[in-house]
Amino acid sequence: MRIVLSLGGSVLMGEGLSQKEVSERVLAFADSINRLSEKHTLFVVVGGGRIAREYIGAARELGADETYCDYMGIEITRLNAMLLALAVKNSPKIIPEDFKSALELSLNHAVVLMGGTFPGHTTDATAALLAEFVGADLLLNATSVDGVYSDDPKKSKDAKRFDKLSFEELIEIVSRGEVAAGSSNVIDLLASKIIQRSKIRTVVFLGTPENILRAAEGDVAGIGTIIE
Ligand code: UTP
Repeated sequence: MRIVLSLGGSVLMGEGLSQKEVSERVLAFADSINRLSEKHTLFVVVGGGRIAREYIGAARELGADETYCDYMGIEITRLNAMLLALAVKNSPKIIPEDFKSALELSLNHAVVLMGGTFPGHTTDATAALLAEFVGADLLLNATSVDGVYSDDPKKSKDAKRFDKLSFEELIEIVSRGEVAAGSSNVIDLLASKIIQRSKIRTVVFLGTPENILRAAEGDVAGIGTIIE
């Protein structure tokens, strides 16, 4: 299969960890990616996480507009991709800036890593667009929650988790979220629309190294939501 993995920055780097813990975590994710790449062609889009949010927050304080904030977020996603590239076998260490370069690099590499591309959306949308462009069979969205809920599970205890959703149902749920730079919806609206228009089978799941392997096999019981 051809798989695109959207790996949230906070999923990859964790929160409040020491440098040693971060590097161990990066190695554990790289190990799953290396294993998946033995069977599949893999593209990984890395998110910005806490560091992106800190830069965006400070830039806003200094009067930056949203597009400028987005550009700063994109730089951080690319830095995170560079870090992961150090531990992923047969991946280019120079991170492609657009989809055409990513596709070209995939001809000679088992795994291609990239960060964000354009202002105005998150790496979820980047991953969905890349999945569309490379004709991916599956889009894996590794997040900090165990699937798509009817409401934000961190804010509402009545939020219901879905095992399965149609493309239309996903859009209905995601439409209620926000779109500011650095905001953390489980998957952004643009990503949902791209997934819908190209009918890309997608799994939104709790991003751990082990779950990435499970989600690729379609085994998401208790860890995520399948959208198809
Ligand atoms: P993400 O919000 O995708 O990072 O990008 P993330 O790591 O997935 O977020 P967490 O870890 O799940 O919380 C960070 C910011 O970079 C900008 C946006 O401002 C986004 O909020 N960005 C990223 C873009 O403008 N375009 C892109 O293609 C990617």
